[in-house]
Amino acid sequence: MPLIPMRPLLETVRQYGFAQGAFNVNSVVQAEAVIEVHEMFRSAAILQGADLANAFMGGNANFMKGTLEDKRKGAKLIGEAVAKLAKNSPIPIVLHLDHGKDFDSVKAAIEGGYTSVMIDGSHLPFEENVDLTREVVQYAHERGVTVEGELGVLSGVEDDVFSEHSTYTNPLKAVEFFRRTGVDCLAISYGTKHGAVKGDNIQLRKEIVIATMENLKHEGIFGVLVSHGSSAVPRYIVEEINQLGGKLAQANGIPSSELKPVIRAGIGKINVDTDIRLAVTRNIRELIYNLTNHVKDHMIQAIRERLEQAPEQFDPRAYLTPILENFITGDDQKDPILQELMACIKNGVKEVVGTQIVEFGSVGYAPKVEVISLEEMAERYRKGGGRIE
Ligand code: G3H
Ligand code: ZN
Repeated sequence: MPLIPMRPLLETVRQYGFAQGAFNVNSVVQAEAVIEVHEMFRSAAILQGADLANAFMGGNANFMKGTLEDKRKGAKLIGEAVAKLAKNSPIPIVLHLDHGKDFDSVKAAIEGGYTSVMIDGSHLPFEENVDLTREVVQYAHERGVTVEGELGVLSGVEDDVFSEHSTYTNPLKAVEFFRRTGVDCLAISYGTKHGAVKGDNIQLRKEIVIATMENLKHEGIFGVLVSHGSSAVPRYIVEEINQLGGKLAQANGIPSSELKPVIRAGIGKINVDTDIRLAVTRNIRELIYNLTNHVKDHMIQAIRERLEQAPEQFDPRAYLTPILENFITGDDQKDPILQELMACIKNGVKEVVGTQIVEFGSVGYAPKVEVISLEEMAERYRKGGGRIE
């Protein structure tokens, strides 16, 4: 079926009270893996490409310095690939821009085929964040595209999104933000953190979720709350990486015992990126150090060198540069070594995504999601489906 906007999926989430995982991808093979595992569990799927992931998929290995042109190219590449995969899939699929930096990046994503976008104005003063987000909502909703905003600051690192300290979201401000911008969902800060070092003994501020949802209900505003920085950072994967020559210190994530109660309280979309990077890294290290029959192969050697130079690195984009083109596009899989590398990547994605689909409770809900086109969604917004004061 065609890609759908995120809004109908958010409505299903609200109606049935589960959470939908949103999984970051940096390549077509990763997208395939995310879709395949969601199909297995009869769950709808949210695939998300971060702003700079689009620059990477545009072919710029130095993606931290990616240009708008790189982002345009990358958005088109992943947009076309995911639309093709969705066409042959029995589950509803959303392609969502994660941490959109500015209006131009959002436009590039929508032009490339994204059906949902995030505009991250969380670093701005409240009024400026409202203005920027409103502008994006207007542009996106006219095209039927869903919008996620962010209010409050998460600590940690994710590509170029970095903050040392967090500022928790004020529930009253969150409701005002929904009302004044018309966003469909909102990322809040309530104790989660980006990256693989989230701290011991994490305790999420469930009251922030409860207060925001309660106030939204009283005001008659539709809204879903989004939990960023929610990777579990599984201990067994970290231990395996370190046994295979990696050096990950103090790595820890958000325990499921903390996430389950906030899902019941109203968190409806949960973002996961770090766990995927970790599982893929463990698999690649295992292939290169323990399993490969191709130790002399130049690709394997080049990746091995990179892993040895940076044992703390767990972002595949940083060490898969020797096979950049194949990693991004998934092409040329006739080469047996490339096939093995791609299988490592896909299996890593599936291990994490499958676990979280079950944890977050989206198993079996695919048929409950309304399949609607962007044009139909745009018409609904025009008739007042999304409210801007
Ligand atoms: O936007 C993506 C997520 O917030 C990533 O969070 O670092 O815990 O996977 P994570
Ligand atoms: Zn995030």
